Amino acid sequence: MQLIDGKAISDRIKQEIACEVEKIKAEGGKIPHLAAILVGHDGGSETYVANKVKACEQCGFKSTLIRYETDVTENELLARVEELNRDEDIDGFIVQLPLPGHISEQKVIEAIDYRKDVDGFHPVNVGRMNIGLPCFVSATPAGILELLKRYDINTKGKHCVVLGRSNIVGKPVAALMMQKAVPGNATVTVCHSATPDIKDICRSADIIIAALGSPHFVTADMVRDGAVVIDVGTTRVPSDKTKSGFKLTGDVKFDEVASKCSYITPVPGGVGPMTIVSLMRNTLLAGKKEIYK
Ligand code: GUN
Repeated sequence: MQLIDGKAISDRIKQEIACEVEKIKAEGGKIPHLAAILVGHDGGSETYVANKVKACEQCGFKSTLIRYETDVTENELLARVEELNRDEDIDGFIVQLPLPGHISEQKVIEAIDYRKDVDGFHPVNVGRMNIGLPCFVSATPAGILELLKRYDINTKGKHCVVLGRSNIVGKPVAALMMQKAVPGNATVTVCHSATPDIKDICRSADIIIAALGSPHFVTADMVRDGAVVIDVGTTRVPSDKTKSGFKLTGDVKFDEVASKCSYITPVPGGVGPMTIVSLMRNTLLAGKKEIYK
Protein backbone atom coordinates (compact mmCIF):
# COMPACT_ATOMS: atom_id res chain seq x y z
CA MET A 1 0.00 0.00 0.00
CA GLN A 2 1.27 3.45 -0.90
CA LEU A 3 0.03 6.52 0.93
CA ILE A 4 -0.79 9.42 -1.40
CA ASP A 5 0.88 12.40 0.23
CA GLY A 6 -1.27 15.37 -0.79
CA LYS A 7 0.56 17.65 1.63
CA ALA A 8 3.97 16.96 0.04
CA ILE A 9 2.62 17.29 -3.53
CA SER A 10 0.78 20.50 -2.68
CA ASP A 11 3.94 21.98 -1.10
CA ARG A 12 5.84 21.21 -4.30
CA ILE A 13 3.15 22.78 -6.50
CA LYS A 14 3.07 25.90 -4.33
CA GLN A 15 6.82 26.21 -4.83
CA GLU A 16 6.36 25.81 -8.60
CA ILE A 17 3.71 28.55 -8.56
CA ALA A 18 5.89 30.82 -6.39
CA CYS A 19 8.73 30.43 -8.94
CA GLU A 20 6.38 31.49 -11.74
CA VAL A 21 5.23 34.49 -9.72
CA GLU A 22 8.88 35.48 -9.15
CA LYS A 23 9.39 35.37 -12.91
CA ILE A 24 6.28 37.48 -13.51
CA LYS A 25 7.55 40.00 -10.95
CA ALA A 26 11.04 40.10 -12.51
CA GLU A 27 9.47 40.83 -15.89
CA GLY A 28 7.37 43.63 -14.40
CA GLY A 29 4.09 41.74 -14.83
CA LYS A 30 1.03 41.84 -12.63
CA ILE A 31 1.02 39.83 -9.40
CA PRO A 32 -2.05 37.56 -9.30
CA HIS A 33 -4.67 38.83 -6.86
CA LEU A 34 -7.32 36.59 -5.27
CA ALA A 35 -10.23 37.91 -3.21
CA ALA A 36 -12.37 35.77 -0.91
CA ILE A 37 -15.77 36.65 0.53
CA LEU A 38 -16.58 34.97 3.84
CA VAL A 39 -20.03 35.32 5.38
CA GLY A 40 -20.48 34.51 9.07
CA HIS A 41 -18.21 32.53 11.37
CA ASP A 42 -18.72 28.86 10.52
CA GLY A 43 -15.67 27.07 11.94
CA GLY A 44 -14.97 25.00 8.82
CA SER A 45 -15.31 27.98 6.46
CA GLU A 46 -13.09 30.14 8.70
CA THR A 47 -10.35 27.49 8.55
CA TYR A 48 -10.65 26.95 4.78
CA VAL A 49 -10.52 30.67 4.03
CA ALA A 50 -7.60 31.25 6.42
CA ASN A 51 -5.74 28.42 4.64
CA LYS A 52 -6.50 29.97 1.26
CA VAL A 53 -5.15 33.36 2.38
CA LYS A 54 -2.02 31.65 3.77
CA ALA A 55 -1.51 29.74 0.52
CA CYS A 56 -1.72 33.04 -1.41
CA GLU A 57 1.17 34.36 0.72
CA GLN A 58 3.18 31.20 0.08
CA CYS A 59 2.63 31.55 -3.68
CA GLY A 60 3.50 35.26 -3.69
CA PHE A 61 -0.04 36.34 -4.62
CA LYS A 62 -1.93 39.34 -3.36
CA SER A 63 -5.05 38.41 -1.41
CA THR A 64 -8.03 40.30 -0.05
CA LEU A 65 -10.42 38.88 2.53
CA ILE A 66 -13.88 40.45 2.61
CA ARG A 67 -16.01 39.55 5.62
CA TYR A 68 -19.72 39.93 6.25
CA GLU A 69 -21.84 39.04 9.24
CA THR A 70 -24.55 36.40 8.79
CA ASP A 71 -27.26 39.06 8.47
CA VAL A 72 -25.85 40.48 5.21
CA THR A 73 -28.61 40.70 2.61
CA GLU A 74 -28.52 38.95 -0.73
CA ASN A 75 -28.55 42.32 -2.49
CA GLU A 76 -25.56 43.59 -0.50
CA LEU A 77 -23.62 40.48 -1.39
CA LEU A 78 -24.61 40.67 -5.07
CA ALA A 79 -23.53 44.33 -5.16
CA ARG A 80 -20.10 43.35 -3.77
CA VAL A 81 -19.78 40.58 -6.35
CA GLU A 82 -20.53 43.14 -9.05
CA GLU A 83 -17.84 45.44 -7.63
CA LEU A 84 -15.28 42.63 -7.69
CA ASN A 85 -16.29 41.76 -11.27
CA ARG A 86 -15.41 45.33 -12.26
CA ASP A 87 -12.26 45.71 -10.13
CA GLU A 88 -9.37 45.41 -12.57
CA ASP A 89 -6.87 44.57 -9.86
CA ILE A 90 -8.77 41.43 -8.84
CA ASP A 91 -7.93 38.51 -11.12
CA GLY A 92 -10.19 35.99 -9.45
CA PHE A 93 -12.47 35.68 -6.44
CA ILE A 94 -14.48 33.16 -4.50
CA VAL A 95 -17.51 33.30 -2.26
CA GLN A 96 -16.99 30.68 0.45
CA LEU A 97 -19.92 28.25 0.70
CA PRO A 98 -22.20 27.47 2.41
CA LEU A 99 -24.04 30.79 2.61
CA PRO A 100 -26.80 31.54 5.14
CA GLY A 101 -30.21 30.17 4.17
CA HIS A 102 -31.70 33.54 3.18
CA ILE A 103 -29.15 33.96 0.36
CA SER A 104 -29.42 32.00 -2.89
CA GLU A 105 -26.04 30.36 -3.50
CA GLN A 106 -26.94 29.78 -7.13
CA LYS A 107 -27.81 33.46 -7.67
CA VAL A 108 -24.48 34.50 -6.16
CA ILE A 109 -22.50 31.97 -8.21
CA GLU A 110 -24.19 33.10 -11.42
CA ALA A 111 -23.47 36.75 -10.59
CA ILE A 112 -19.72 36.09 -10.62
CA ASP A 113 -18.01 36.95 -13.91
CA TYR A 114 -17.06 33.49 -15.24
CA ARG A 115 -13.67 34.89 -16.24
CA LYS A 116 -12.94 35.52 -12.54
CA ASP A 117 -14.68 32.37 -11.26
CA VAL A 118 -11.55 30.59 -9.99
CA ASP A 119 -13.78 28.16 -8.04
CA GLY A 120 -15.13 26.91 -11.37
CA PHE A 121 -18.71 26.94 -10.07
CA HIS A 122 -20.28 29.23 -12.70
CA PRO A 123 -22.44 27.40 -15.28
CA VAL A 124 -20.14 28.59 -18.09
CA ASN A 125 -17.14 26.90 -16.45
CA VAL A 126 -19.16 23.82 -15.48
CA GLY A 127 -20.46 23.50 -19.05
CA ARG A 128 -17.06 24.03 -20.65
CA MET A 129 -15.50 21.49 -18.28
CA ASN A 130 -18.15 18.94 -19.25
CA ILE A 131 -17.35 19.22 -22.95
CA GLY A 132 -13.59 19.36 -22.44
CA LEU A 133 -12.99 23.04 -23.25
CA PRO A 134 -10.44 25.24 -21.44
CA CYS A 135 -12.03 26.57 -18.25
CA PHE A 136 -11.56 26.95 -14.51
CA VAL A 137 -12.01 23.43 -13.16
CA SER A 138 -13.32 23.36 -9.60
CA ALA A 139 -10.57 22.89 -7.09
CA THR A 140 -11.29 19.55 -5.40
CA PRO A 141 -11.81 17.55 -8.63
CA ALA A 142 -8.75 19.22 -10.17
CA GLY A 143 -6.73 18.34 -7.05
CA ILE A 144 -7.81 14.70 -7.22
CA LEU A 145 -6.80 14.40 -10.87
CA GLU A 146 -3.46 16.06 -10.14
CA LEU A 147 -2.77 13.45 -7.44
CA LEU A 148 -3.61 10.60 -9.83
CA LYS A 149 -1.32 12.18 -12.42
CA ARG A 150 1.62 12.81 -10.10
CA TYR A 151 1.44 9.25 -8.71
CA ASP A 152 1.21 7.93 -12.29
CA ILE A 153 -1.94 5.95 -11.46
CA ASN A 154 -3.44 4.35 -14.56
CA THR A 155 -7.12 5.25 -14.94
CA LYS A 156 -7.73 4.25 -18.59
CA GLY A 157 -10.45 1.60 -18.84
CA LYS A 158 -10.64 1.28 -15.06
CA HIS A 159 -13.93 1.18 -13.17
CA CYS A 160 -14.14 4.34 -11.11
CA VAL A 161 -16.91 4.53 -8.52
CA VAL A 162 -17.77 8.03 -7.31
CA LEU A 163 -19.72 8.20 -4.06
CA GLY A 164 -21.72 11.44 -3.93
CA ARG A 165 -23.25 13.71 -6.56
CA SER A 166 -22.57 17.21 -5.26
CA ASN A 167 -22.04 20.04 -7.71
CA ILE A 168 -18.67 20.78 -6.07
CA VAL A 169 -17.11 17.30 -6.14
CA GLY A 170 -19.18 14.26 -7.22
CA LYS A 171 -20.56 15.52 -10.52
CA PRO A 172 -17.41 17.28 -11.78
CA VAL A 173 -14.99 14.51 -10.74
CA ALA A 174 -17.23 11.95 -12.50
CA ALA A 175 -17.20 14.08 -15.66
CA LEU A 176 -13.41 14.45 -15.55
CA MET A 177 -12.77 10.75 -14.89
CA MET A 178 -14.86 9.75 -17.92
CA GLN A 179 -13.27 12.30 -20.25
CA LYS A 180 -10.90 11.00 -22.93
CA ALA A 181 -7.76 12.34 -21.27
CA VAL A 182 -4.95 11.37 -18.93
CA PRO A 183 -5.96 10.95 -16.15
CA GLY A 184 -9.48 9.99 -17.22
CA ASN A 185 -10.84 7.57 -19.79
CA ALA A 186 -12.36 5.53 -16.97
CA THR A 187 -15.73 3.79 -16.82
CA VAL A 188 -17.56 5.80 -14.18
CA THR A 189 -20.40 4.85 -11.86
CA VAL A 190 -21.88 7.54 -9.62
CA CYS A 191 -23.58 6.32 -6.43
CA HIS A 192 -25.77 8.44 -4.15
CA SER A 193 -28.34 8.19 -1.40
CA ALA A 194 -30.89 6.47 -3.68
CA THR A 195 -28.48 3.85 -5.03
CA PRO A 196 -29.24 0.30 -3.94
CA ASP A 197 -26.34 -2.17 -3.59
CA ILE A 198 -23.65 0.47 -3.02
CA LYS A 199 -21.47 -2.13 -1.32
CA ASP A 200 -21.57 -4.45 -4.35
CA ILE A 201 -20.84 -1.60 -6.75
CA CYS A 202 -17.87 -0.48 -4.64
CA ARG A 203 -16.51 -4.01 -4.56
CA SER A 204 -16.26 -3.92 -8.37
CA ALA A 205 -14.30 -0.65 -8.35
CA ASP A 206 -10.66 -0.22 -9.34
CA ILE A 207 -10.86 3.35 -8.07
CA ILE A 208 -13.21 4.67 -5.36
CA ILE A 209 -13.65 8.41 -4.93
CA ALA A 210 -15.60 8.93 -1.70
CA ALA A 211 -17.25 12.34 -1.50
CA LEU A 212 -20.38 11.81 0.58
CA GLY A 213 -19.45 13.71 3.73
CA SER A 214 -20.43 10.63 5.71
CA PRO A 215 -17.66 9.70 8.18
CA HIS A 216 -16.25 6.17 7.84
CA PHE A 217 -18.87 5.16 5.24
CA VAL A 218 -16.42 3.06 3.22
CA THR A 219 -15.47 -0.10 5.14
CA ALA A 220 -13.03 -2.89 4.33
CA ASP A 221 -15.75 -5.21 3.01
CA MET A 222 -16.52 -2.64 0.27
CA VAL A 223 -13.00 -2.48 -1.14
CA ARG A 224 -11.39 -5.01 -3.44
CA ASP A 225 -7.71 -5.89 -3.02
CA GLY A 226 -5.46 -3.48 -4.89
CA ALA A 227 -8.07 -0.71 -5.28
CA VAL A 228 -7.15 2.98 -5.32
CA VAL A 229 -9.12 4.89 -2.67
CA ILE A 230 -9.47 8.68 -2.72
CA ASP A 231 -11.12 10.10 0.39
CA VAL A 232 -12.67 13.54 -0.05
CA GLY A 233 -14.52 13.56 3.29
CA THR A 234 -13.60 16.22 5.84
CA THR A 235 -16.32 16.06 8.47
CA ARG A 236 -15.49 17.79 11.78
CA VAL A 237 -16.25 15.16 14.40
CA PRO A 238 -16.06 16.16 18.10
CA SER A 239 -12.96 14.81 19.82
CA ASP A 240 -11.51 15.19 23.32
CA LYS A 241 -8.07 14.27 22.00
CA THR A 242 -7.40 17.46 20.05
CA LYS A 243 -6.85 21.07 21.12
CA SER A 244 -9.53 22.33 18.72
CA GLY A 245 -12.10 19.89 20.15
CA PHE A 246 -12.76 18.19 16.83
CA LYS A 247 -11.09 15.82 14.43
CA LEU A 248 -11.28 15.93 10.64
CA THR A 249 -12.77 12.59 9.65
CA GLY A 250 -12.83 11.10 6.18
CA ASP A 251 -15.51 9.05 4.41
CA VAL A 252 -13.24 6.00 4.55
CA LYS A 253 -12.50 3.81 7.56
CA PHE A 254 -8.80 4.24 6.90
CA ASP A 255 -7.51 1.84 9.59
CA GLU A 256 -9.26 -1.19 8.12
CA VAL A 257 -9.26 -0.18 4.43
CA ALA A 258 -5.65 0.98 3.93
CA SER A 259 -3.98 -2.44 3.95
CA LYS A 260 -6.21 -3.61 1.05
CA CYS A 261 -5.39 -0.67 -1.23
CA SER A 262 -2.67 -0.11 -3.79
CA TYR A 263 -2.95 3.64 -3.07
CA ILE A 264 -4.98 5.59 -0.52
CA THR A 265 -5.26 9.23 0.56
CA PRO A 266 -5.20 10.05 4.28
CA VAL A 267 -7.46 12.58 6.03
CA PRO A 268 -6.08 15.09 6.75
CA GLY A 269 -3.14 15.49 4.37
CA GLY A 270 -4.63 13.92 1.24
CA VAL A 271 -7.15 15.71 -0.97
CA GLY A 272 -7.57 18.77 1.32
CA PRO A 273 -4.23 20.48 0.62
CA MET A 274 -4.63 19.74 -3.10
CA THR A 275 -7.95 21.58 -3.17
CA ILE A 276 -6.29 24.75 -1.97
CA VAL A 277 -3.38 24.44 -4.35
CA SER A 278 -5.76 23.94 -7.29
CA LEU A 279 -7.41 27.23 -6.37
CA MET A 280 -3.94 28.80 -6.41
CA ARG A 281 -3.28 27.38 -9.86
CA ASN A 282 -6.60 28.74 -11.14
CA THR A 283 -5.69 32.14 -9.70
CA LEU A 284 -2.34 32.03 -11.50
CA LEU A 285 -4.14 31.14 -14.76
CA ALA A 286 -6.59 33.99 -14.16
CA GLY A 287 -3.73 36.42 -13.49
CA LYS A 288 -2.00 35.37 -16.69
CA LYS A 289 -5.31 35.52 -18.62
CA GLU A 290 -4.48 32.05 -19.91
CA ILE A 291 -8.03 30.75 -20.13
CA TYR A 292 -10.08 33.84 -20.90
CA LYS A 293 -8.61 37.01 -22.40
N1 GUN B 1 -17.10 25.19 0.46
C1 GUN B 1 -16.59 23.94 0.44
N2 GUN B 1 -15.70 23.80 -0.56
C2 GUN B 1 -15.66 24.98 -1.20
C3 GUN B 1 -14.91 25.46 -2.33
O1 GUN B 1 -14.12 24.75 -2.96
N3 GUN B 1 -15.14 26.76 -2.67
C4 GUN B 1 -16.02 27.55 -2.00
N4 GUN B 1 -16.18 28.79 -2.44
N5 GUN B 1 -16.73 27.14 -0.97
C5 GUN B 1 -16.54 25.86 -0.57
